Amino acid sequence: MTLFQPDYNIYFDSSDLTSASNCLSKYGYCVIKSVMPLTWVEELKLEIDEVIDPSGNLPNASNRYHMMFAEESRVLWRLMDHSPYLNFLKMIHGNDSICLHRSAAILRSSGEGMGNWHKDHRGHITYPKTANDILNRLSIPSGCWFYLNGSHPDRSGIAVIEKSHFEDWKGPEGYQLTAEGSSFRPIDATDDSACNWMDVPGCIAICSEPGDIICFASRTFHANMATNERRYSCGFGFRSKKDRIKAPWSLPLTSKALTARLDFKYQTYLDGYTGFDGSWTSVTN
Ligand SMILES: [Fe+2]
Repeated sequence: MTLFQPDYNIYFDSSDLTSASNCLSKYGYCVIKSVMPLTWVEELKLEIDEVIDPSGNLPNASNRYHMMFAEESRVLWRLMDHSPYLNFLKMIHGNDSICLHRSAAILRSSGEGMGNWHKDHRGHITYPKTANDILNRLSIPSGCWFYLNGSHPDRSGIAVIEKSHFEDWKGPEGYQLTAEGSSFRPIDATDDSACNWMDVPGCIAICSEPGDIICFASRTFHANMATNERRYSCGFGFRSKKDRIKAPWSLPLTSKALTARLDFKYQTYLDGYTGFDGSWTSVTN
């Protein structure tokens, strides 16, 4: 399988995070191998089933999200005692004191097509209107994601555009950013719809194993590849406590419940946590 594969190394052991960080800086993404034990991977899948699809009725060709998965998961918090993951956090945040920024889980079913190419960073939005606009403004990797089935273009997972993480990036050759700025489209397209196909200059179809972390920079363009199996993934992201965020929504009850149940040794990670209110919209803009 040579299609959409890089001609440089993107795979790094958790003992070689300097090289991983260099790859992230140069190309906008990297894969850290075997960060999570495979037994935890299976437990996480069960947690995602319980939280997102407890009745097992997710239709074919669809998806469901949970946007505060760390509030429900117990397995994710084990990572905070697991040196490969802690070393990864140190690679991202240095010696800064950190707090939980956001987390999510996604369940997808077979038959779902490829998603639109996009970046998660919302720093180009002058007047934030949604919770994503408020939270996704920092230059910290937005993709620190566990693809619990692994990632492969034959089954699904993530594809990225190499070197698309620079602030002045204008789109792949032959394409231009959409008017809103989070996606791109062919230059000669007759409308502003976002592109959702693989055959784009710079496209890399990431291949990874369960337990690996796929990491990409805050502005790296990415897309979910077409899904050919029931797929589980989750993300767990932190930020420096120096980056205070005054969220315009009230701390959700579920976030307060997390504070109540989480072991004392992890409470430091909740100092600054805002939760996520997907129903919040700005009333002034
Ligand atoms: Fe995304």
